[in-house]
Amino acid sequence: MGTTRDHLRQGTRVIHERLHHHPSFSELMDETIALSGYFALLTRLFGYHHGLELALDSAVFPERPQAPPVDRRSQRLLQDLEDLGPSGSDKAPHTQTVKLAAIESYGAWLGVLYVREGSMMGGRALAAKLDHLFGTQLAGRRFFQGGGGDGAAWQRLCRALDALVEPAAQDQALKAALASFELFDAWMMPREPITRSGV
Ligand code: HEM
Repeated sequence: MGTTRDHLRQGTRVIHERLHHHPSFSELMDETIALSGYFALLTRLFGYHHGLELALDSAVFPERPQAPPVDRRSQRLLQDLEDLGPSGSDKAPHTQTVKLAAIESYGAWLGVLYVREGSMMGGRALAAKLDHLFGTQLAGRRFFQGGGGDGAAWQRLCRALDALVEPAAQDQALKAALASFELFDAWMMPREPITRSGV
């Protein structure tokens, strides 16, 4: 078996590819999304990212002091929702948050974090598809645009994945990563397609 990162990348390729065509992103991809639909999309994404952060924070592995930190990506989502204006901040985006089962191993913890951090990698391309809403402004698309520390966070995670060499732990990571992808797919579906204008 290669590195845990290879194992994860190969093992999740099919579902990752499928998510590129997820209906919730179609109007964003087509650059036709309206503000109302964009607000709904960010709200739903907040529920996913915040839920993952809560689950990652509540699982502690004292024998693994080198675990990478979990960045507060959901805060960028909240900032975007606020930037969308008073009508946006009224809508209390934090009412619905995805619930994860307790993360019981460090391998699984890294698998969840892999999906979370990896989901940011296509973000910048998505941010570029919002010019029709925001012109040249960053406000409103900070989440997709990402921050200066994202590359370093990804490198830290990759180092932690490289250090995970036990096959059983690698399998735990893959199982958790697949479950996190599936959860994303399901969580984003209920109001399919949630980015439809006027939703
Ligand atoms: C329209 C949606 C998406 C696009 C356009 C997209 C695009 C990308 C791109 C360009 C990369 C970098 C590939 C590379 O440099 O090798 C990437 C990596 C990744 N994405 Fe996505 N992505 C999308 C949605 C998602 C979602 C929703 C998730 C998770 C919930 C996700 C998880 C990942 C992961 C884990 C990686 C890292 C793969 C690796 O190990 O290199 N992506 N994505």
